[in-house]
Amino acid sequence: MSRGPARAAGDVAAQLPLDPQATVPLYRQVAAGIRDLTAAGALAEGDRLPPIRDLAQALGLSHITVSQAYSVLRADGLVRATPGQGTVIASTQGAAAERPHVGRRRGARAWGWQGHGDTTVSGDGERSVPPTIGQGEGAPSWPGFVRSPRSSILQAAVAPQDARGTSEDGTLIHLGTGQPDAALLPLAALRHAWAAALRDASPHDLLYAGPQGDPEVRAALAEYCRDLGYAAASEEVLITTGTQQSIDLVIRTFIQPGEHVLVESPGYPSALDLLENHGCRLVPVPVDAEGLRVDLLAGYIARFRPRLLYLAPTGHNPTGTVLSARRRDALRALIPDANLLVLEDDVCSELLYEGRPQPGVRIAQTRGHVLTFKSFAKTILPGLRVGCLLAAPPLLGPLAATKALTDRFTSPLAQHALRRYLQGRSVRADLARAREAYWERRDALAAALAQALPADAQWTLPSAGLNLWLALPPGCDAAEVRHLAAERGVLCAPGAAFFAVPDPAEAHLRLTFADSPPAVLGDGVRRLAEAVLTSRTRGMRQDHQASGRLPLSV
Ligand SMILES: Cc1ncc(COP(=O)(O)O)c(C=O)c1O
Repeated sequence: MSRGPARAAGDVAAQLPLDPQATVPLYRQVAAGIRDLTAAGALAEGDRLPPIRDLAQALGLSHITVSQAYSVLRADGLVRATPGQGTVIASTQGAAAERPHVGRRRGARAWGWQGHGDTTVSGDGERSVPPTIGQGEGAPSWPGFVRSPRSSILQAAVAPQDARGTSEDGTLIHLGTGQPDAALLPLAALRHAWAAALRDASPHDLLYAGPQGDPEVRAALAEYCRDLGYAAASEEVLITTGTQQSIDLVIRTFIQPGEHVLVESPGYPSALDLLENHGCRLVPVPVDAEGLRVDLLAGYIARFRPRLLYLAPTGHNPTGTVLSARRRDALRALIPDANLLVLEDDVCSELLYEGRPQPGVRIAQTRGHVLTFKSFAKTILPGLRVGCLLAAPPLLGPLAATKALTDRFTSPLAQHALRRYLQGRSVRADLARAREAYWERRDALAAALAQALPADAQWTLPSAGLNLWLALPPGCDAAEVRHLAAERGVLCAPGAAFFAVPDPAEAHLRLTFADSPPAVLGDGVRRLAEAVLTSRTRGMRQDHQASGRLPLSV
């Protein structure tokens, strides 16, 4: 049983001695401080800790940092999370465990969020403080410098061990994967393509090669990208191991830690984590049903002088929106004077359900400023690890040099397998089949949501891609809904993972429709709806209790 209301965030925050200059990451400092308060008797068994967002606000930290601290305490058995009650001190045993040594590191500061007037920006321009890794018994400990909080949240949330229940047929329903359906990937055709690539390769073809990629493959990729509506010549193609590497190469080649980058809000977690790891300050630009709010860009550019704008204009992750023609034009008009590079990420423009295909942001007039990333991870095979970026030759040269430093060059066998597949007979039919299936699943998911969820739940029908972005009805706690859904055998991706700067009021889930057949989606939504209604009822009950009134009906 918990004792009384949650502790006031301000009181707890005042008793936590944090040192942003320390080598110990802030989430560990917060966890250690709470452990100390428990050891000293200031917090007792059954006491409720402040809600994550309140403590984060009181400490001036991101809610991800505080959430990580609570996770550490949960893993240590010091606290437990109870739906409807929050985080409660479970045991005072072990509270006296040794405090981490809070050494200082010159110039290092914590990963966090800073207010810039009415816009909050992530990061502080320096690399994050290294958490110590490998602390298991007998394992050496060593400082690690890379953190990927959003990707970690996402991976943890969709891990099957989170779920205790199962669906009617005894299996888990995965609505959080963000993946295509493995059964719809053209593996058989790729097997042939790979075998042919290996059969026809001479030993000479498989010696060390240049970083830019095989000329024949570059020509094929340029043609494929032109068909999708991008300005592309083969000398503008750099073959990479996928978009994650393309983004990494651009950052390492052209960006200094501390520089500002405009990103979509919500946006693609792996890109946000990667940018932040490099010390970029992320400036979130809202996305609505027409895509990125291009009308806000001029103001942000004048104010932050960003070096990059990163966007996924077709099949945006997580919302599935497509940047409208009007906004594309406005963006192209702005680019020449903006003194920034535009990174245009295309992972699934082939999976378009609404409207006509549109030219990319990269057209002949903008090609000097726009780098387009083409990934085949959602349409062909995530595991092939071949993609490309398009860049004007003066930019491409330095990028190719960075590629050579990174991994020399992408496997020529994989490059040729992709080329043979793209030039083969089945590619169009394979894409059309996948698109048809995902289209049907998108509609099935939307229909099930409309039927099962309260009328004030909101979403925009995705125009492209694999996912639907669901705004939970007011009164629901997103973490609780996810937890309750997992108990019912349904895994969803947490909205919190998709933001550059956490929003305490955020209550979204990303639902992947591509990965499950319509009947499974319907079953998943019924279970999710139960979770939503349970969370909402609890929230209403608590509101009524807090206001001293009895609920009229629950
Ligand atoms: C916006 C976006 N870009 C790129 C990717 C995939 O990148 P990669 O080619 O590195 O697999 C994804 C995958 O989810 C994505 O959502």
